[in-house]
Amino acid sequence: MPEGSALIPLIGLGTLQLRGRVCVDTVEQALRLGYRHIDTAEGYENERDVGEGLRASGVQRADIFVTTKISPSHFAPRELERAAKDGLMRLRLSEVDLLLLHWPNPQVPLPETLEALCKVKRAGLTRHIGVSNFEVADIVEAVRHASEPLVCNQIAMNSFVDRPKLTAACRAHHMAVVAYCPIARGEANNDAVLKRIGQAYGKSGAQVSLRWLVQQGISVIPRTSRIERLSENYSIFDFELSEAEMSEISSIARRRSRLATVMSPLRAFALKTLPAPATSVLRIGYRMLQRVICG
Ligand SMILES: NC(=O)c1ccc[n+]([C@@H]2O[C@H](COP(=O)([O-])OP(=O)(O)OC[C@H]3O[C@@H](n4cnc5c(N)ncnc54)[C@H](OP(=O)(O)O)[C@@H]3O)[C@@H](O)[C@H]2O)c1
Repeated sequence: MPEGSALIPLIGLGTLQLRGRVCVDTVEQALRLGYRHIDTAEGYENERDVGEGLRASGVQRADIFVTTKISPSHFAPRELERAAKDGLMRLRLSEVDLLLLHWPNPQVPLPETLEALCKVKRAGLTRHIGVSNFEVADIVEAVRHASEPLVCNQIAMNSFVDRPKLTAACRAHHMAVVAYCPIARGEANNDAVLKRIGQAYGKSGAQVSLRWLVQQGISVIPRTSRIERLSENYSIFDFELSEAEMSEISSIARRRSRLATVMSPLRAFALKTLPAPATSVLRIGYRMLQRVICG
Protein backbone atom coordinates (compact mmCIF):
# COMPACT_ATOMS: atom_id res chain seq x y z
CA MET A 1 0.00 0.00 0.00
CA PRO A 2 1.56 3.37 -0.99
CA GLU A 3 2.31 5.92 1.74
CA GLY A 4 -0.76 7.90 2.72
CA SER A 5 -3.26 5.37 1.35
CA ALA A 6 -6.29 4.43 3.40
CA LEU A 7 -7.65 0.97 4.12
CA ILE A 8 -11.23 1.50 3.00
CA PRO A 9 -13.56 -1.46 3.64
CA LEU A 10 -14.77 -2.96 0.36
CA ILE A 11 -18.41 -2.75 1.39
CA GLY A 12 -20.15 0.11 3.14
CA LEU A 13 -23.64 1.45 3.67
CA GLY A 14 -24.78 4.45 1.62
CA THR A 15 -27.18 6.75 3.43
CA LEU A 16 -28.46 9.21 0.82
CA GLN A 17 -32.16 9.97 1.53
CA LEU A 18 -32.12 7.98 4.80
CA ARG A 19 -33.29 10.26 7.58
CA GLY A 20 -34.67 10.12 11.11
CA ARG A 21 -35.55 6.78 12.73
CA VAL A 22 -35.09 4.83 9.47
CA CYS A 23 -31.55 6.15 9.16
CA VAL A 24 -30.64 5.45 12.81
CA ASP A 25 -32.05 1.89 12.65
CA THR A 26 -30.51 1.07 9.26
CA VAL A 27 -27.04 2.23 10.32
CA GLU A 28 -27.36 0.33 13.61
CA GLN A 29 -28.52 -2.89 11.89
CA ALA A 30 -25.87 -2.64 9.17
CA LEU A 31 -23.12 -2.42 11.79
CA ARG A 32 -24.63 -5.31 13.76
CA LEU A 33 -24.62 -7.38 10.55
CA GLY A 34 -20.93 -6.73 9.94
CA TYR A 35 -20.77 -3.55 7.80
CA ARG A 36 -17.79 -1.47 8.93
CA HIS A 37 -18.03 1.47 6.54
CA ILE A 38 -20.74 4.15 6.58
CA ASP A 39 -21.04 6.88 3.96
CA THR A 40 -22.79 10.17 4.67
CA ALA A 41 -22.47 13.83 3.59
CA GLU A 42 -23.24 17.31 4.82
CA GLY A 43 -25.76 17.50 1.95
CA TYR A 44 -27.68 14.38 3.04
CA GLU A 45 -28.87 16.17 6.20
CA ASN A 46 -28.57 12.96 8.20
CA GLU A 47 -25.22 13.18 9.99
CA ARG A 48 -26.98 13.40 13.37
CA ASP A 49 -28.97 10.22 12.62
CA VAL A 50 -25.88 8.42 11.31
CA GLY A 51 -24.00 9.31 14.51
CA GLU A 52 -26.88 8.00 16.62
CA GLY A 53 -26.91 4.74 14.62
CA LEU A 54 -23.16 4.31 15.15
CA ARG A 55 -23.55 4.62 18.91
CA ALA A 56 -26.69 2.43 19.07
CA SER A 57 -24.83 -0.42 17.32
CA GLY A 58 -22.41 -0.88 20.20
CA VAL A 59 -19.58 -1.42 17.70
CA GLN A 60 -16.31 0.20 18.76
CA ARG A 61 -15.66 3.51 17.03
CA ALA A 62 -12.15 2.39 16.05
CA ASP A 63 -13.64 -0.51 14.05
CA ILE A 64 -15.86 1.70 11.86
CA PHE A 65 -14.78 3.66 8.80
CA VAL A 66 -16.90 6.83 8.60
CA THR A 67 -16.89 8.98 5.46
CA THR A 68 -18.54 12.36 5.13
CA LYS A 69 -18.41 15.07 2.46
CA ILE A 70 -18.25 18.85 2.35
CA SER A 71 -20.82 20.52 0.09
CA PRO A 72 -19.40 22.60 -2.81
CA SER A 73 -21.10 25.74 -1.40
CA HIS A 74 -18.63 25.53 1.54
CA PHE A 75 -15.38 25.27 -0.43
CA ALA A 76 -14.10 28.75 0.46
CA PRO A 77 -11.30 28.04 3.01
CA ARG A 78 -12.94 29.48 6.15
CA GLU A 79 -16.27 27.93 5.32
CA LEU A 80 -14.68 24.56 4.68
CA GLU A 81 -13.08 24.48 8.12
CA ARG A 82 -16.38 25.55 9.71
CA ALA A 83 -18.32 22.92 7.71
CA ALA A 84 -15.89 20.17 8.75
CA LYS A 85 -16.32 21.10 12.43
CA ASP A 86 -20.11 21.31 12.10
CA GLY A 87 -20.18 17.85 10.51
CA LEU A 88 -18.24 16.38 13.44
CA MET A 89 -20.56 18.13 15.88
CA ARG A 90 -23.62 16.60 14.17
CA LEU A 91 -22.03 13.15 14.05
CA ARG A 92 -20.81 13.61 17.63
CA LEU A 93 -17.37 12.35 16.67
CA SER A 94 -13.94 13.83 17.30
CA GLU A 95 -12.75 12.85 13.81
CA VAL A 96 -14.01 11.06 10.71
CA ASP A 97 -11.99 8.52 8.74
CA LEU A 98 -12.44 10.18 5.37
CA LEU A 99 -13.52 13.69 4.42
CA LEU A 100 -14.33 14.32 0.76
CA LEU A 101 -14.98 17.31 -1.46
CA HIS A 102 -18.45 16.31 -2.69
CA TRP A 103 -18.34 17.78 -6.23
CA PRO A 104 -15.87 20.03 -8.05
CA ASN A 105 -16.74 23.71 -7.65
CA PRO A 106 -15.00 25.87 -10.27
CA GLN A 107 -16.34 29.03 -8.55
CA VAL A 108 -13.68 28.57 -5.82
CA PRO A 109 -10.00 28.06 -6.85
CA LEU A 110 -9.18 24.41 -6.22
CA PRO A 111 -5.72 25.09 -4.65
CA GLU A 112 -7.39 27.20 -1.92
CA THR A 113 -9.99 24.55 -1.19
CA LEU A 114 -7.36 21.83 -1.09
CA GLU A 115 -5.12 23.80 1.22
CA ALA A 116 -8.06 24.21 3.61
CA LEU A 117 -8.88 20.50 3.35
CA CYS A 118 -5.24 19.56 4.09
CA LYS A 119 -5.24 21.94 7.05
CA VAL A 120 -8.36 20.29 8.45
CA LYS A 121 -6.59 16.93 8.17
CA ARG A 122 -3.47 18.22 9.91
CA ALA A 123 -5.69 19.61 12.68
CA GLY A 124 -6.90 16.03 13.31
CA LEU A 125 -10.52 16.46 12.18
CA THR A 126 -10.17 13.60 9.70
CA ARG A 127 -7.74 10.69 9.26
CA HIS A 128 -7.82 10.90 5.46
CA ILE A 129 -9.00 13.26 2.75
CA GLY A 130 -10.21 12.74 -0.79
CA VAL A 131 -12.56 13.86 -3.53
CA SER A 132 -15.78 12.81 -5.21
CA ASN A 133 -17.08 13.22 -8.76
CA PHE A 134 -13.65 14.35 -9.97
CA GLU A 135 -12.82 13.63 -13.61
CA VAL A 136 -9.30 12.78 -14.85
CA ALA A 137 -8.27 16.43 -15.38
CA ASP A 138 -9.66 17.40 -11.94
CA ILE A 139 -7.62 14.62 -10.32
CA VAL A 140 -4.40 15.65 -12.01
CA GLU A 141 -4.92 19.24 -10.84
CA ALA A 142 -5.94 18.19 -7.33
CA VAL A 143 -2.94 15.91 -6.81
CA ARG A 144 -0.63 18.71 -8.02
CA HIS A 145 -1.97 21.12 -5.38
CA ALA A 146 -2.60 18.87 -2.37
CA SER A 147 0.07 18.89 0.33
CA GLU A 148 -1.48 15.76 1.91
CA PRO A 149 -2.34 12.49 0.11
CA LEU A 150 -5.76 12.33 -1.54
CA VAL A 151 -6.74 8.74 -0.86
CA CYS A 152 -10.00 8.33 -2.74
CA ASN A 153 -12.29 9.43 -5.54
CA GLN A 154 -15.94 8.50 -4.98
CA ILE A 155 -17.69 8.15 -8.35
CA ALA A 156 -20.83 6.67 -9.91
CA MET A 157 -20.07 3.13 -11.07
CA ASN A 158 -22.19 0.05 -11.56
CA SER A 159 -22.76 -2.70 -14.07
CA PHE A 160 -24.25 -0.15 -16.49
CA VAL A 161 -21.54 2.48 -15.95
CA ASP A 162 -17.86 1.62 -16.30
CA ARG A 163 -15.15 4.29 -16.03
CA PRO A 164 -11.91 2.54 -17.07
CA LYS A 165 -9.92 5.71 -17.86
CA LEU A 166 -11.00 7.39 -14.64
CA THR A 167 -10.30 4.34 -12.47
CA ALA A 168 -6.87 3.96 -14.13
CA ALA A 169 -6.09 7.63 -13.37
CA CYS A 170 -7.16 7.14 -9.74
CA ARG A 171 -4.92 4.10 -9.41
CA ALA A 172 -2.00 5.90 -11.05
CA HIS A 173 -2.33 8.55 -8.33
CA HIS A 174 -2.70 5.96 -5.54
CA MET A 175 -6.35 6.85 -4.98
CA ALA A 176 -8.88 4.19 -4.07
CA VAL A 177 -12.11 4.15 -6.08
CA VAL A 178 -15.37 4.03 -4.13
CA ALA A 179 -18.44 3.33 -6.28
CA TYR A 180 -21.70 5.07 -5.53
CA CYS A 181 -24.99 3.98 -7.16
CA PRO A 182 -23.35 0.51 -7.22
CA ILE A 183 -26.66 -1.27 -7.91
CA ALA A 184 -27.96 1.44 -10.27
CA ARG A 185 -30.65 2.47 -7.78
CA GLY A 186 -32.04 -1.09 -7.78
CA GLU A 187 -32.05 -1.48 -11.61
CA ALA A 188 -29.32 -4.14 -11.42
CA ASN A 189 -31.96 -6.52 -10.08
CA ASN A 190 -34.05 -6.17 -13.26
CA ASP A 191 -31.24 -6.69 -15.74
CA ALA A 192 -31.54 -9.95 -17.72
CA VAL A 193 -27.77 -10.54 -18.08
CA LEU A 194 -27.04 -9.96 -14.40
CA LYS A 195 -29.99 -12.14 -13.39
CA ARG A 196 -28.80 -14.96 -15.67
CA ILE A 197 -25.24 -14.76 -14.33
CA GLY A 198 -26.49 -14.59 -10.74
CA GLN A 199 -28.72 -17.67 -11.12
CA ALA A 200 -25.67 -19.94 -11.43
CA TYR A 201 -24.50 -18.82 -7.98
CA GLY A 202 -27.90 -18.37 -6.31
CA LYS A 203 -27.33 -14.58 -6.30
CA SER A 204 -29.45 -11.59 -7.36
CA GLY A 205 -28.60 -9.07 -10.09
CA ALA A 206 -27.75 -6.53 -7.38
CA GLN A 207 -25.27 -8.94 -5.81
CA VAL A 208 -23.67 -9.60 -9.21
CA SER A 209 -23.29 -5.85 -9.84
CA LEU A 210 -21.65 -5.40 -6.42
CA ARG A 211 -19.42 -8.44 -6.94
CA TRP A 212 -18.30 -7.14 -10.37
CA LEU A 213 -17.07 -3.98 -8.64
CA VAL A 214 -15.39 -5.50 -5.57
CA GLN A 215 -13.70 -8.12 -7.74
CA GLN A 216 -11.92 -5.17 -9.40
CA GLY A 217 -10.81 -3.85 -5.98
CA ILE A 218 -13.46 -1.11 -5.99
CA SER A 219 -15.30 -0.36 -2.73
CA VAL A 220 -19.10 -0.25 -2.90
CA ILE A 221 -21.58 1.68 -0.76
CA PRO A 222 -25.08 0.38 -1.65
CA ARG A 223 -27.94 2.05 0.17
CA THR A 224 -31.06 0.34 1.40
CA SER A 225 -33.71 1.19 3.94
CA ARG A 226 -34.77 -2.49 4.18
CA ILE A 227 -33.07 -4.67 6.75
CA GLU A 228 -33.38 -7.86 4.62
CA ARG A 229 -31.56 -6.15 1.76
CA LEU A 230 -28.69 -5.20 4.09
CA SER A 231 -27.75 -8.89 4.31
CA GLU A 232 -28.35 -9.46 0.58
CA ASN A 233 -26.01 -6.61 -0.36
CA TYR A 234 -23.39 -7.77 2.15
CA SER A 235 -23.36 -11.40 0.91
CA ILE A 236 -21.02 -10.91 -2.03
CA PHE A 237 -17.83 -12.48 -0.73
CA ASP A 238 -18.80 -16.16 -1.05
CA PHE A 239 -18.72 -16.43 -4.86
CA GLU A 240 -16.41 -15.39 -7.68
CA LEU A 241 -17.35 -14.30 -11.20
CA SER A 242 -15.41 -15.99 -14.00
CA GLU A 243 -13.23 -13.94 -16.35
CA ALA A 244 -15.82 -14.38 -19.12
CA GLU A 245 -18.62 -13.09 -16.82
CA MET A 246 -16.51 -10.12 -15.71
CA SER A 247 -15.88 -9.20 -19.38
CA GLU A 248 -19.51 -9.64 -20.38
CA ILE A 249 -20.64 -7.24 -17.63
CA SER A 250 -17.86 -4.77 -18.50
CA SER A 251 -18.99 -4.67 -22.12
CA ILE A 252 -22.59 -3.76 -21.13
CA ALA A 253 -21.24 -1.15 -18.74
CA ARG A 254 -18.99 0.45 -21.36
CA ARG A 255 -21.79 0.85 -23.88
CA ARG A 256 -23.95 2.86 -21.51
CA SER A 257 -21.04 4.82 -20.02
CA ARG A 258 -20.29 6.58 -23.30
CA LEU A 259 -22.98 9.10 -22.37
CA ALA A 260 -21.14 10.02 -19.16
CA THR A 261 -17.82 10.28 -21.01
CA VAL A 262 -19.29 12.76 -23.49
CA MET A 263 -21.13 14.79 -20.86
CA SER A 264 -18.33 15.27 -18.31
CA PRO A 265 -15.95 17.56 -20.29
CA LEU A 266 -18.94 19.56 -21.58
CA ARG A 267 -20.15 20.05 -18.03
CA ALA A 268 -16.67 21.08 -16.78
CA PHE A 269 -16.32 23.59 -19.62
CA ALA A 270 -19.78 25.09 -19.00
CA LEU A 271 -19.21 25.35 -15.23
CA LYS A 272 -15.99 27.27 -15.84
CA THR A 273 -17.42 29.67 -18.40
CA LEU A 274 -21.06 30.36 -17.46
CA PRO A 275 -22.16 32.94 -14.85
CA ALA A 276 -23.30 31.72 -11.39
CA PRO A 277 -27.12 31.54 -11.94
CA ALA A 278 -26.64 29.47 -15.10
CA THR A 279 -24.21 27.09 -13.35
CA SER A 280 -26.80 26.43 -10.62
CA VAL A 281 -29.31 25.40 -13.27
CA LEU A 282 -26.63 23.32 -14.97
CA ARG A 283 -25.72 21.61 -11.69
CA ILE A 284 -29.36 20.60 -11.17
CA GLY A 285 -29.57 19.34 -14.75
CA TYR A 286 -26.36 17.33 -14.35
CA ARG A 287 -27.66 15.73 -11.18
CA MET A 288 -30.81 14.71 -13.02
CA LEU A 289 -28.66 13.21 -15.76
CA GLN A 290 -26.60 11.43 -13.11
CA ARG A 291 -29.85 9.90 -11.88
CA VAL A 292 -30.53 8.58 -15.36
CA ILE A 293 -26.99 7.20 -15.56
CA CYS A 294 -27.30 5.64 -12.10
CA GLY A 295 -30.45 3.87 -13.16
N1 LIG B 1 -20.59 11.23 -4.03
C1 LIG B 1 -21.75 11.45 -4.58
O1 LIG B 1 -21.98 12.44 -5.31
C2 LIG B 1 -22.87 10.47 -4.36
C3 LIG B 1 -24.01 10.51 -5.18
C4 LIG B 1 -25.02 9.56 -4.95
C5 LIG B 1 -24.87 8.63 -3.94
N2 LIG B 1 -23.75 8.63 -3.13
C6 LIG B 1 -23.59 7.65 -2.02
O2 LIG B 1 -23.66 6.34 -2.55
C7 LIG B 1 -24.70 5.61 -1.93
C8 LIG B 1 -25.32 4.62 -2.89
O3 LIG B 1 -25.88 5.26 -4.01
P1 LIG B 1 -27.47 5.43 -4.19
O4 LIG B 1 -28.11 5.38 -2.87
O5 LIG B 1 -27.65 6.63 -5.00
O6 LIG B 1 -27.87 4.19 -5.11
P2 LIG B 1 -27.81 2.60 -4.96
O7 LIG B 1 -27.15 2.18 -3.71
O8 LIG B 1 -27.29 2.07 -6.25
O9 LIG B 1 -29.35 2.21 -4.91
C9 LIG B 1 -30.17 2.46 -3.82
C10 LIG B 1 -31.59 2.05 -4.20
O10 LIG B 1 -31.62 0.66 -4.53
C11 LIG B 1 -32.57 -0.04 -3.72
N3 LIG B 1 -31.93 -1.30 -3.31
C12 LIG B 1 -30.99 -1.47 -2.37
N4 LIG B 1 -30.61 -2.76 -2.30
C13 LIG B 1 -31.33 -3.42 -3.22
C14 LIG B 1 -31.40 -4.77 -3.63
N5 LIG B 1 -30.62 -5.71 -3.08
N6 LIG B 1 -32.29 -5.10 -4.61
C15 LIG B 1 -33.07 -4.16 -5.19
N7 LIG B 1 -33.06 -2.85 -4.85
C16 LIG B 1 -32.19 -2.50 -3.87
C17 LIG B 1 -32.86 0.87 -2.55
O11 LIG B 1 -34.23 0.79 -2.19
P3 LIG B 1 -34.68 0.26 -0.73
O12 LIG B 1 -34.29 1.31 0.25
O13 LIG B 1 -36.16 0.11 -0.90
O14 LIG B 1 -33.97 -1.05 -0.52
C18 LIG B 1 -32.58 2.27 -3.11
O15 LIG B 1 -33.75 2.78 -3.71
C19 LIG B 1 -25.65 6.71 -1.45
O16 LIG B 1 -26.58 6.26 -0.50
C20 LIG B 1 -24.67 7.74 -0.96
O17 LIG B 1 -24.18 7.37 0.32
C21 LIG B 1 -22.75 9.52 -3.34
